[in-house]
Amino acid sequence: MRAIRTAGRRGTGESPGEAMELAPEEHAILAGERGEALRKAVDSVVRYGLAFGARRLVEIEGGGHLVTSFGSGTMKPYYAMLDDLIAAGLRSARPFTANPRPVDYANVRYGLVDHLALRLLYGKQKAYESQLTRLGLRDAFSCTCYLPEVGNTPRRDAVLAWSESSAVVFANSVLGARTNRNAAGIDLLCNVLGKAPLFGLLTDDGRRASWLVEVRTQALPEAQLLGSTIGQRVVDAVPYVTGLDRFLEPASDDATVGYLKDMGAAAASNGAVGLYHVEGITPEAAAEGRGLLLDAYRRYVVDDDELAHVKSGYPVLWKRSDAVPRLCFIGCPHLTHRQVSEWTERILDALRQTGRVRLEVETYLCAAPQVLEVFRREGPTLASALRAGLRFTSLCPLMFMANPLVERRAVVTNSAKLRTYSTARYFIDDDVVRVVVEGTTKASKQ
Ligand code: F3S
Repeated sequence: MRAIRTAGRRGTGESPGEAMELAPEEHAILAGERGEALRKAVDSVVRYGLAFGARRLVEIEGGGHLVTSFGSGTMKPYYAMLDDLIAAGLRSARPFTANPRPVDYANVRYGLVDHLALRLLYGKQKAYESQLTRLGLRDAFSCTCYLPEVGNTPRRDAVLAWSESSAVVFANSVLGARTNRNAAGIDLLCNVLGKAPLFGLLTDDGRRASWLVEVRTQALPEAQLLGSTIGQRVVDAVPYVTGLDRFLEPASDDATVGYLKDMGAAAASNGAVGLYHVEGITPEAAAEGRGLLLDAYRRYVVDDDELAHVKSGYPVLWKRSDAVPRLCFIGCPHLTHRQVSEWTERILDALRQTGRVRLEVETYLCAAPQVLEVFRREGPTLASALRAGLRFTSLCPLMFMANPLVERRAVVTNSAKLRTYSTARYFIDDDVVRVVVEGTTKASKQ
């Protein structure tokens, strides 16, 4: 290896003024010996790494996952970059997956105006997917790419270059893989290069916790509310969470996977958490315990009052707070197979108990295409669910909500992530069930 001081454009003398140790092969690529497209790719990755203090690149050891899954007409420079990579015959070293599609014409009810708006917003969808396919995309559109049904499941300690925040935090925390929260575009360039800059969550030091979060609730808290509470306090730090092993099974258990997935997504979006440790449960915490805490860690106690306080701070962004709810999305992040089954049962049960046959609110359960395929094949309740008006889709509800026409509708969700990025209104799981069955946000009189 030798140190270089040139991540700038050739011949310009530009330099970020910091050194990175590059292997001879990387140096040759940077000198343009393997073509201009690859030179630009390594140049961008090196510059990105230097900005975060990286001193070298390391091999990527698992498939990629991209945050950008929508073909918006506004991303012309990005499409041009993909064209350059394709023209140079480059593709990702391993197949990669991408976030959910923004539209699902087969399973979601759109009005005529929605159709027109979506076609305008995502007019480049087909062309973009064709570019991604040529660069190594597997036909897997979901933020839960790591679930066994989808199959992009990294092994423990594998170095990755992912970007979707909910997937990054799951891979790091629950699977013990190693990825930073990479920028869109950089994720693909790293995977084409097969290398990522070594900094942050790829390093042992970057994975140590600077917060001790003590969960002292009476029962298992709502996963997304707890994640939101932690994210808002620790922001982008690594928390070491205690007290959940009173309620949760080990990380190999399906219910625990669903819980940690939802908690992580909320912590990653209501703050910017890329990794958390849960005492006695997540792999690094199980192996190293409180040795993961930095010497000067801070403490945060989360009890029932604190959760109620955080929840009461969520703004209601509906035009009228007493509006009749029109739509409900459950599954941001996408649901596991177990969660799809449990939500279906739970909603059907609530309908039966109130003597109703159809939901009052158009309700969507969102999950990966492969998860829904298994559910549709095996789910004994599918026919009753469809009759009750429950719908199943693999789209991203946030992309759905990004349409300015939809924004004005009264949408409810149990997702702390969706409520953060859209006008959807948050309810805890029990209340969501009541709202979609009764069609009102007002609590029924006992
Ligand atoms: Fe997944 Fe879209 Fe939510 S990518 S986490 S369903 S915002």
